[in-house]
Amino acid sequence: MTAYQYPDSHVFYRKLGHEYPKIVRGEGCWLIDERGKRYLDAVGGAYVANLGHSNPEIAEAMAQQARQFGYLSGTQFTHEPVEELAAQIAETLPGDLSKLYFLCSGSEAVEAALKLARQYWVERGRSEKHRIIALGPGYHGSTLLALSASAREAHKAPFRPWLVDVHRIPAPYPYRCECGGRGTACPVCSAAVLEEAIEQLGADHVAAFIAEPVGGSSTGASTPRPEYFKRVREICDRHDVLFIADEVLVGVGRTGTWWAIEPYGVAPDIMTFGKGVSGGYAALSGIAAPERIVDTLARGSGSFIHAQTFSHHPVACAAGVATMRYLKQHKLVDRCAKMGRLLHEKLAPLTKLPHVGDVRGRGLLAGIEFVDDKASRAPLRRSARFAEQFADAAIEAGITVWPNGAHDHDSTVLSQCPPSPQRGEGARG
Ligand SMILES: Cc1ncc(COP(=O)(O)O)c(C=O)c1O
Repeated sequence: MTAYQYPDSHVFYRKLGHEYPKIVRGEGCWLIDERGKRYLDAVGGAYVANLGHSNPEIAEAMAQQARQFGYLSGTQFTHEPVEELAAQIAETLPGDLSKLYFLCSGSEAVEAALKLARQYWVERGRSEKHRIIALGPGYHGSTLLALSASAREAHKAPFRPWLVDVHRIPAPYPYRCECGGRGTACPVCSAAVLEEAIEQLGADHVAAFIAEPVGGSSTGASTPRPEYFKRVREICDRHDVLFIADEVLVGVGRTGTWWAIEPYGVAPDIMTFGKGVSGGYAALSGIAAPERIVDTLARGSGSFIHAQTFSHHPVACAAGVATMRYLKQHKLVDRCAKMGRLLHEKLAPLTKLPHVGDVRGRGLLAGIEFVDDKASRAPLRRSARFAEQFADAAIEAGITVWPNGAHDHDSTVLSQCPPSPQRGEGARG
């Protein structure tokens, strides 16, 4: 049988030192390779496949749209899937978010959100507002502005001359914080560091603060204190700074509410989403913004300066509509909250193991943090590449997990993020 590895195939693979199993079929939570081996897709690929695989309703919706027409330019026409998808998502959004702009990847959504923030200030006559503040650890994507906003030094180092200077503040990461996440007076966990940063840079120069409401691939499902984002909201309002919630990984029901920001009781000025919004069936992402921001552009230059050939794509939007309908019809967000409680109940006993320091998360998003020493919380040596080896061994054993230790900070976290199909589906094909 062919070995799927570099350089034996013409594919320029993501990992050049790796042999890949070739998947030929999906069934609910399962993936099946050409040898017949089954893999439980416990992380939905990359926190994506929230409905499971081979869903006939999504496949049919996409095929039907492709039969009608496959592509048209968002500068010339509109179409039913984009109108319907915008309306479907708008129903679920917090605060005054109501206008949707669709793109393909999470990185593009982050680029667009940051550019929208900047264009908004320019059109309001405040062109001195250009600085971005972001968290570390934190991840927002791999294109240059999104990478600039990310705190992933190893990914940034070769491209440093091309990156924008984003101001970094420490992420609320209770397990790794000196206060253990318990201190309302802790400057990091209370967001006081954000206000200090804005004052240091000068509020007149700060355009936006971007953060994930629940940590994704950097802090492995770490959840900030309940009052964190309320404080962020107050600080941003006080200083005229736009708050961008990056919901690319944690949005669309993943944490048991439509949006991970919801339990904090505040709304951002701009939101990004991606991954699960199309169930993974199409490359689809987007940003949500309120009229008060979009109106500034409408009354000013007349458009958002972010042209992309494949924005508002009909077939991708059809996949999005079918996914949103499926989530609503089968009440999968509620089910995610319920199954999430079960998942966390089952994972909790892992903390009894000698090297498991923390098990955390919300809904069907869980992170397991491994440590060298539980008492001191001393991290595992990064050079041991434990998370990566664990993820490879898991694939060997027939289950996918996500290794978060691949990044700069001194912690090793494995994530689980299983699909939330209907009861009975995908239990075993
Ligand atoms: C929070 C967050 N934002 C943005 C991105 C970038 O998304 P994409 O890989 O689709 O470009 C990711 C990817 O993991 C992410 O987790």
